[in-house]
Formats: sequence, C-alpha cells, structure tokens
Amino acid sequence: MNLSDREKKMLDEGNGEPVRKAMEILVALGKIYDAEDMVPIRSAHIAGLSLKSHGDAGLEWVENMAAENARVQVPTTLNVIGVDRSRDLGLPEDWCRKQKRIGWAYERMGCFGSSTCVPYYCGYIPRLKEHIAWAESSAVVFTNSYLGARDNREGGPSALAAALTGCTPRYGLHLDENRKGKLLVKVTEPMTCLADFGALGAYVGKRVGTDIPVFSGIERMAIEDHVYLGAALASSGAVALYHVLGITPETLFEKSVLADRYETVEFGNREKQIGKEQLTSGVDRSVDYVAIGCPHCSLRQLSQLAELLAGKKIHKNVTLWIHTNVAIKGMAMQLGYREAIEQSGAVLTQDLCTILSCPEELGFKNIVTNSAKMAFYAPGTGKFNVWYGNVEECIEAAVSGKWKL
Ligand code: F3S
Repeated sequence: MNLSDREKKMLDEGNGEPVRKAMEILVALGKIYDAEDMVPIRSAHIAGLSLKSHGDAGLEWVENMAAENARVQVPTTLNVIGVDRSRDLGLPEDWCRKQKRIGWAYERMGCFGSSTCVPYYCGYIPRLKEHIAWAESSAVVFTNSYLGARDNREGGPSALAAALTGCTPRYGLHLDENRKGKLLVKVTEPMTCLADFGALGAYVGKRVGTDIPVFSGIERMAIEDHVYLGAALASSGAVALYHVLGITPETLFEKSVLADRYETVEFGNREKQIGKEQLTSGVDRSVDYVAIGCPHCSLRQLSQLAELLAGKKIHKNVTLWIHTNVAIKGMAMQLGYREAIEQSGAVLTQDLCTILSCPEELGFKNIVTNSAKMAFYAPGTGKFNVWYGNVEECIEAAVSGKWKL
C-alpha cells in the first residue's frame, strides 16, 4: 500500500502504541481488500459497545487503550450501549456497571457519549461524498444512501482504528465505481408505514445479500422511512448502500446508478406479505413485551407515539419500551411527549436497545415490534417469539396484552 509520511510514522510507533496498533489493523485491512492507499476521514462512529459484544476481555482492552492515552483524531460518536444511564430499568447490576465502564473508556478517548445508532438525528451529519468510517450497519447504509457519504461496513475495531488515525483504507464504497446497483426493484405496492418499508428491506435484503439494490416506483419517503428500510436491508442482507430513483442523492446527479448488467424484480402485495411473514415467529398471542425504536426513534416518531398513547393504559402483563437517545429524549421532555408516553405506563429509554441490552433477563418471551431489524435479531439474541406489525398494531397489543387475531 502507498502510505504517506504521516501514515508511515504512525505505523512505526511515532504517535504511541495504540495508534501504531490501529495503523497496523488498517494496513492489514487495506491489504486484504487491495486498497491502493488510505483516505482521510471526516468522522467516525463506533459500534459493538454492548457488553454482549465486548465481554470482560473487551472491557479490559478498551480501558487499557484509554489508560495508554489513545485519543481520537476526528469527531467520533458512540453507538448504543446496553444500559440506560438515566434510570434503573431492573437490569442486572453487574451488567449495568460494566456496561457504563465501557462507555466511559471510549469517552476518555475523546468520543462523544451519544449512545445511539442515529447520531445524524443529533447533528452528526456527514456530507455528500465525504469519506467517513462509521460502524453500525443501519447507520452505514443511511449515510451512504440518504446522505451520499462514502463509508464501508466498518466493525467496532476498524472504526476505532480509523478514529485514532484519521484515515481508512480506500476500497469498497469509497470508490465511485463500486456504487452501482445490480438489482432493480420495481415497487408496485404503496408503502404506507415503517413496517411496510421494513418488509421491503427484509424481502430485498435476503435476495440481494451484499449487492446494491435500486428501487423505482416510490414517490416520496420521510427520513424515518429511509432509516427503517436501510436497517432492514442491512440485517436480512448485508446491504451498505441502496438507491431510490428520483429520491436519493446519487440518482439525481449520476448518469446512471445501475451497473451495465442488472436484474429486475417486482415488489407487490404478495412480496410485501412474504416480507412481513419472514419477520414473524410468534405462536402464542399473549404478549409480554413491546419494543419500538430500532433504530432509535426520531422526535416525529415520539410525537406520534404520544398521540397514540394519550388516554390509554398499558396492560398490566406488558412492558412497553420505546428506545431513543438522550438528545431526542431531551426534546421530547421539553415538548411534553415523554409525559404523555409515560403516563400510559410505557417507558421511554435512552442509550440502550432491546437487541444490545438484556431485557430477556427480565423474563420476557413474546415480543411485538414495528422494526424489521429487531424482528430479525430478537429470536437469536433474546430467544424471543416475534410478532411484527405497524406502530398502531404494536400499541394495540401493548394495551390489550394480545397480538391481534
Ligand atoms: Fe439501533 Fe439497537 Fe436497533 S443499535 S438499529 S436500536 S439493534
């Protein structure tokens, strides 16, 4: 690989052991992917912060890095951790203590304790064509697709290495020629809610794997639609970029976002139903847990939930957690949404999420959600049986204690 003098110095111990190790990781990655050189990055986002992924060894490793004075070189945000730092949700004490130590260690390295998978809702917004090193698959696909930034599906360690050095190997989606779609999806069915976009993402993600899908036939999309479509594509497949003709930025200025050879499929009512069935594993209709906010809720979603929950009471056998981050929660508190939500018995959480925390430790078994990503992972990570539907159906189940018949 061609390295600049600055990069060579980092590799030869110039800036301390953590930076040397970080550069070693990046050079090894660059060699694996045949990168010619490094590209400077403007920001990083580090994921994999849950104790589930770090374990005790990871906790010790990150605390050692912080003790060795490792410091990030670019604005760096942190993904969800497994604990709500504002309140006791009844999760095991030991888990919470260790989880907080992981967050603090990264903050000591100069990262922002954003604890969210949607840092772009909090002002960390990469620009068109800007090179970045973000981890968290739902955030990666959003930055590439909705914002037109240049990012690969980083893992936690490679994103940290990029943050400590300010660069990443130039390969994959950092190169314009790799951003063309190989599957055109003609959407013929109206997409009316987040659960529809989740079903679209789940269906297409499974089919396309790591390739880039291009959607046609969608007239308008709210930002949340992109967030839920992308998260579904990135979990049922390993999609890091999609295009929507006439909507996402690259389709507006590139001559074509399709490769010279591509396949075409249709997504109609039948495919939508298949997508939803794919996300449902529930058998027992008694519900004990409802989880909304994967990816974390926007302010608009919280305003809608406040309206849906007004005057209602959550069933005594049901726990309803609504996940967001501290910034959005702060606004929701000022605007009265949190009060309206929590008066019903629901809990507005910050910092954590169902998949990366351990709500299964509280004995929940049958989960209802409007998130395709959560529906995809919950059976594996928490051994949950999942019912998948739109947000109105989720609230109905939370109030009645039953999934609709
Ligand atoms: Fe975010 Fe957790 Fe879902 S990190 S995308 S809420 S699994």
